[in-house]
Amino acid sequence: MSNTATLEINGEKHEFPLVVGTENEIGINIKTLRGVTGGVTTIDPGYKNTGACESGITFLDGEKGILRYRGYSIEDLADKADFLEVAYLLIFGELPSKDQLDKFHSDIKAQSVVDDDVKKIIDAFPKAAHPMGVLSSLTSALTAFNPSSVNVDSEEDMYKTVVKILGKFPVLVAWAMRKKQGLPLNYGSNSLGYVENVLKMMFEKPNEEYVQNPIIVNALDKLLILHADHEQNCSTSTVRIVGSSHAGLFASISSGISALWGPLHGGANQAVLEMLEAIKEDGGDTKKYMGKAKDKEDPFRLMGFGHRVYKNFDPRAKIIKVAADEVLADLGVEDPILDIAKGLEKEALKDDYFVKRKLYPNVDFYSGIIYRAMGIPTEMFTVMFALGRLPGWISQWREMRLRKEPIGRPRQIYTGENYRAFKDIAKR
Ligand code: CMC
Repeated sequence: MSNTATLEINGEKHEFPLVVGTENEIGINIKTLRGVTGGVTTIDPGYKNTGACESGITFLDGEKGILRYRGYSIEDLADKADFLEVAYLLIFGELPSKDQLDKFHSDIKAQSVVDDDVKKIIDAFPKAAHPMGVLSSLTSALTAFNPSSVNVDSEEDMYKTVVKILGKFPVLVAWAMRKKQGLPLNYGSNSLGYVENVLKMMFEKPNEEYVQNPIIVNALDKLLILHADHEQNCSTSTVRIVGSSHAGLFASISSGISALWGPLHGGANQAVLEMLEAIKEDGGDTKKYMGKAKDKEDPFRLMGFGHRVYKNFDPRAKIIKVAADEVLADLGVEDPILDIAKGLEKEALKDDYFVKRKLYPNVDFYSGIIYRAMGIPTEMFTVMFALGRLPGWISQWREMRLRKEPIGRPRQIYTGENYRAFKDIAKR
């Protein structure tokens, strides 16, 4: 195989080196394109064909439905690891030893108090505020309470920032929900596991002890692992590009939360449940909604279907579908929404429109059903996604800074007006 690609523009040939990844993915390195061609650029809306970086964190093969963190399959990790181990793996590159994991957890716990003045900020939000907006603002506010900038050349400094956000973020997640429910803003307990503590902080009532349910703890642990990273998706690219200006970790992650919120990205889990509810209220006629999804005049899309990268199946959706059945059975919950979801999936998988476009259920299609069975309110679903994605964002931000990547600054092709003389206001 040749190790260059040739581009011919106006009869002039230019050679560009190929970059081959460890899984034999091939990229064309066009770093010198503008220089050698006198300013020619590429155009690729939505970056469908553009690799923004080289990365050693997550590998996915959309055709084969493969997803691996640092080489480990998502199936193995969801089955055998816990969320904190996966967070360590993503951020530092290797599975931790027992001692490393214990130290990591105790360093996180040592950082799990949020400045009490943050409560005043929360007080100022209306109760109706969406918790994603609240979470993004509070994460940004952490910058104000932790102003020192990170020396990325110091391992120790980087580590301190990482454990700080992993400690404080679950508190903000829980407070975003408790604010909405009018519950006091409390703390969990450092004697608990990371995920158990999240649940206690979210659900504990002021007048009764919170009793952990191992089925819920395990299900949440698994969901967080499945969401922990997904290479250069919209929110992760946002975190990397904001961080590329040397903005701090908290500010970069706050931007990632905003990107995740949209219904085409993480917001889809909330949108799926609202869609399934609407179908149920409307008499359960799935065919009607399939028709709407296919109608190009109708803006309706089948939420939880389709993926930019997966064109065969989403391996996370496979695991979550099985987990949804198990969790509902274990908790003794019967949810008619699950039947509607299964019906929709069945119809879509044999429908020409969906088959031709390779549209399959994605990670968000079944996750909301599990969250709902756990008692998590619909508006919190995307917040739970953010909690799971946090280690991915951290690891990608860290990798980008350690590799000393340049500031992200795409080009454009200008299609506006050519030069015009200024017209006085009286003559317009
Ligand atoms: N329902 C109906 N039609 C769809 C859907 C859908 N959910 N998704 C894609 N299509 C059609 C789309 O109209 C287009 O048709 P045509 O070729 O006739 O113009 C074709 O399929 C290709 O779609 P696209 O929008 O060009 O594909 P994309 O890679 O830009 O978008 C997507 C991927 C995930 C944004 C899109 O499939 C979508 O909007 N899905 C629904 C929202 C959703 O579930 N998002 C969660 C994604 S997974 C988790 C995450 O990333 O956070």
